[in-house]
Amino acid sequence: MDKFVIRGGNPLLGTVRVSGAKNAALPAMAAALLTEEPVILENIPQVRDIETTRKLLAAMGADVELGYGRAHHRTTICCRNLASPEASYELVKTMRASTLVLGPLLARCGRARVSLPGGCAIGARPIDLHIKGLEKLGATITQEHGYVEASAKRLRGAEIVFDKITVTGTEDLLMAATLADGETLLRNCAREPEVADLAGLLNKMGARIEGAGTSTIRVRGVSALSGAKHRIIPDRIEAGTFIIAGALTGGDLNVAGCEPRHLDSILQKLTEVGVKIAHNGDSVRVFGDGDWKASDMVTEEYPGFPTDMQAQYMVLATQAKGSSVITENIFENRFMHALELVRMGASIKVEGHRALVRGKTPLSAAAVLASDLRASASLVIAALVADGETIIDRVYHIDRGYEHIEEKLRGVGAQIRRIGEMLPKKVAAPLVRA
Ligand code: EPZ
Repeated sequence: MDKFVIRGGNPLLGTVRVSGAKNAALPAMAAALLTEEPVILENIPQVRDIETTRKLLAAMGADVELGYGRAHHRTTICCRNLASPEASYELVKTMRASTLVLGPLLARCGRARVSLPGGCAIGARPIDLHIKGLEKLGATITQEHGYVEASAKRLRGAEIVFDKITVTGTEDLLMAATLADGETLLRNCAREPEVADLAGLLNKMGARIEGAGTSTIRVRGVSALSGAKHRIIPDRIEAGTFIIAGALTGGDLNVAGCEPRHLDSILQKLTEVGVKIAHNGDSVRVFGDGDWKASDMVTEEYPGFPTDMQAQYMVLATQAKGSSVITENIFENRFMHALELVRMGASIKVEGHRALVRGKTPLSAAAVLASDLRASASLVIAALVADGETIIDRVYHIDRGYEHIEEKLRGVGAQIRRIGEMLPKKVAAPLVRA
C-alpha cells in the first residue's frame, strides 16, 4: 500500500489548479443511465472513485470512454444497451456512492438490483431515505441477501419530504423523477452545488427541473431523455483543502480554477480565524502570517460549513491561539483523524460529536494512518506544517478524491513523495549442483 513521506516546514508558493468535483462527477456519470444516447462530461477529476464508477457502468453493459492525453478530463458514456441493471457488492463496498445508480436504473429499466453499501468509517450511512422516496414514486422494493431489489412498470410522480437532508438521496430521487409519469415535488432537499450541477446536466438532457439548489425541487416527468455535453463544477472541498494548507504553511498560494461563491462558509470561517484571503474571478489567494485565533465551528448542510472540511479545519484549530470546539453534526464517527493529530503533538479531546482543540501547539512528524478520504487530507496538511518527516500510511484513501495531490503540492514547493510498498525481491532458488 502506498505511503506519503512529507518533510514539513516549506511555505506553499505559486498557483495550484483545482480539478472537477468528485461529488458532482459521480451523480453525473450515473445520470447517463437515464438515456440511450451518449453523455459527454468534461472536467472529470482523475480519481479512483471515477474509475470505480466506470467499472460499475461497464459491468451493466455501458460504453464508458475515459479520455486520455489532452482529453484526460473528459468521459463519454453511452448506455444504449444495459444488459444487467445491477451494482455488485464487489464494487459498492469500495464506493458507497455506487447506490446513485438505483434511481436511474429503476426509472430507465423498470428494475434494479443494487448491493447495500454496508458500514463506513465515518458513520452508519444507511440509504433508507433513498428507498422510502422510491417507494413513494411507486416502486416495489425488497431487500435480500444484502441487495436492494427494486421494480416498477413506470414510476409515478409524487410529493416527497425528506426526513433528513441527504445529498445523494436528493440526487437519486431527482434522477428517478425525471422519467416518472407526472410531477414530483421534493421537499427538504440538499442545496449543495453538486445537486444544482446535476440538475443542470439533466435539464440539458431534456428533463424539466425547477428549484435545484433550493430546499424544494419540482420535476415534471418526461417519457425519454437525450444525450448532452456538460462541464462538471470545480471541487470546492479540494479548493478548501489547498486554502488551509496554504495558510498553515505561511505561504502565498493562489488556488485557481475554483468557484469562490461555493466556498462562502469556508472563507467566512477562515477570515474569522484571521487567515488572509483575497479572491477574484475563479481564484482565491491565501497568504498566512500565523496569527490565528481560535473559533468554534459546527458542521452543517450547505450553505453551512461542510463536514468534508471538518478534518482540515481541525488542523488549523491546532495552530490557532485558544480553544476551539468543533461540532460534527452530519456523521456520527468523523473524528478518526483527531487521534492521529494527537500523535503529532496536537491537544484534542473528543467527546461524542464534539472535539475540544487547544492551540497553539507545535506539530512534530510521526508515522500516522489515514482512515478515510478527508482524514487523510488533514494528515497531509499537518505533515506540511510539522517539524520533520511524516509518513502517512494507507494513502489509497486520498486517491479516491484528490487528483495527483502530491504532484500538485510539489508544484508549489512542498516536499512530498509517494512510496509504493517495495515488492519483496524474488529470491533466486539455490542452484542444485548435480
Ligand atoms: C454526500 O454523501 C457526499 N458524498 C459526502 O462526501 C458528504 O460528506 C455528504 O454528502 C454530506 O455533505 C457524495 O456526494 C458522493 P448524506 P451522502 O446522505 O449523500 C444520513 C466525501 O468526503 N442519511 O447527505 O452519502 C446519513 O447517515 C464524502 O467526499 C440517512 O440517515 O451523505 C448522514 O448522517 C464523504 N439515511 C446524513 O443523513 C439516508 O437514506 C447526511 O448524509 C441517507 C442519509
